[in-house]
Amino acid sequence: MARITAGVTTSHVPAIGAALDNGRSHDAYWAPVFAGFEFSKRWIAASRPDVVLLVYNDHATAFSLEIIPTFAIGCAERFQPADEGWGPRPVPVVEGHPELAAHIAQSVIQSDFDLTIVNKMDVDHGLTVPLSLMFGQPAAWPCRVIPFAVNVVQYPPPSGNRCYQLGKALRAAIEAFDQDLNVQVWGTGGMSHQLQGPRAGLINTEFDRRFMDRIVADPVALAMLPHVEYLREAGSEGVELVMWLVMRGALQADARELYRFYHVPASNTALGHMILENPPAARR
Ligand code: DHB
Ligand code: FE
Repeated sequence: MARITAGVTTSHVPAIGAALDNGRSHDAYWAPVFAGFEFSKRWIAASRPDVVLLVYNDHATAFSLEIIPTFAIGCAERFQPADEGWGPRPVPVVEGHPELAAHIAQSVIQSDFDLTIVNKMDVDHGLTVPLSLMFGQPAAWPCRVIPFAVNVVQYPPPSGNRCYQLGKALRAAIEAFDQDLNVQVWGTGGMSHQLQGPRAGLINTEFDRRFMDRIVADPVALAMLPHVEYLREAGSEGVELVMWLVMRGALQADARELYRFYHVPASNTALGHMILENPPAARR
């Protein structure tokens, strides 16, 4: 059967992708950001996931403001990097896992979560930047990726608890899939940031660090945090953090923190990154 071995969280700052693509990763500004992923790159090369279920948000790229699914699962064979206005990023095509994705769609939808099934879409920085941070610049991504999009761009986003419960439904679905697959679930976006308005540039280190503590040790209560608290404390785009709760719900209650990295500045965003591992028995 498929098994969930680990969870990864990371911010998806688009300027990180531009820094890599334009050969600027050794610049004084960016070097500390990439240094924070050196351990993670070694770890994931050793962990060799077959599939990453990558929970991310589309930034009005694949979905315009005309149609906005709350939760959408990518069931296609492959997904092209999106053109977000300056040409597609020069990164590999994302190879999906249609069989597992279709199985997840059936299981999760019939467990009362209404997913939108997406058979064709391009993927923006929300998905490609986390892949670049974890895998660097390979000729092909080393595993299959199932894009799982959450609306956090247009009000109303789903609640933290809805995301946490969805993670549990994803776990049940993946663990019932009849193929021996090493699956990781990633929750991306965040941490504190606000891109516009009078509070643009807001960073709240105290909130972010506490969020990292609580996502490991206190996720049930953290899931109850109302949107207005994300907005007040972490800025309008800080609500991307509800996607971390999908990852947490997909892992076991006793998952342990393996690695943590937190860095400011990275464009307008506080960059947060964690690796959580399920207990050895679950990883087999
Ligand atoms: C930035 C962060 C984001 O999450 C995003 O989607 C766009 C820009 C930033 O920090 O610049
Ligand atoms: Fe974003």
